[in-house]
Amino acid sequence: MLRFFPQKDKYIQEETEYSFDKNLAIPKHVAIIMDGNGRWAQNRRLPRVAGHKEGMETVKKVTKHASHLGIKVLTLYAFSTENWKRPEEEVNFLMQLPCDFFDAFVPDLIKENVRVNVMGYKEFLPAHTQDAVERAIDQTKDNTGMVLNFALNYGGRSEIVTAVQEVYQELVQTNGEASSIDEEMIAEHLMTGFLPKEMRDPELLIRTSGEERISNFLLWQIAYSELFFTNALWPDFNGELLETSIASYQHRDRRFGGVKIKEDEK
Ligand code: IPE
Ligand code: IPE
Ligand code: MG
Repeated sequence: MLRFFPQKDKYIQEETEYSFDKNLAIPKHVAIIMDGNGRWAQNRRLPRVAGHKEGMETVKKVTKHASHLGIKVLTLYAFSTENWKRPEEEVNFLMQLPCDFFDAFVPDLIKENVRVNVMGYKEFLPAHTQDAVERAIDQTKDNTGMVLNFALNYGGRSEIVTAVQEVYQELVQTNGEASSIDEEMIAEHLMTGFLPKEMRDPELLIRTSGEERISNFLLWQIAYSELFFTNALWPDFNGELLETSIASYQHRDRRFGGVKIKEDEK
């Protein structure tokens, strides 16, 4: 049984009572807030960007593991609309990472039948980052396996504002009534709208690094997601911890506001 930072990590300690069972439900959509790269590097007296480089290796490993587990969509928070506030040198490094990542990893993604998508305000990314992203999307567009969905220059509130603006435009063009706006319409216009309906919302949201907040990620889509927080810093995250988080998910009682009916009371 996995014991990760046993004194510090109350979640992992609690959750280790469950082990991953491949015969129980596997979430179709898993989203991860990949946090803690900077601290991982600082702990080693390395520059913060060394943590981002190592984090990229974790993305490769976790992507393969998720695909082998049968997860259909893996959404990874790579850069938020707020991350532009960081020092220029760090931002430049982060904008170079997709180029290095896709150059090295697209052949593996093709082998794994994984399709790349990038959601976020791509038009504000530097040209070389946009090119790398578009190339990877194009090179993997015919793959039919897991969708590897990067949130890059993504912000949850902006996403909702953009969706509302698009819905408004549609209404103006069709002389529609405000009362015809429903949840389905908004969901269609969110950046996850390209996914089949039943896969748009992650069943499981993981955040690494011990922070217990959402940081403007998938605000709409996580309405009923199960949340899993671990103290592991992103470069230390791995397939085993992914399974630990899924094991926790597998033992939760998802009621969606209803009541649980026990087998013998049915
Ligand atoms: C997550 O790690 C990566 C990005 C936000 C781009 P951080 O860089 O936030 O690492 P910490 O939180 O400072 O340790
Ligand atoms: C969230 O992490 C964004 C990404 C992982 C890309 P941050 O490190 O930016 O979040 P805060 O500042 O701790 O909330
Ligand atoms: Mg952080």
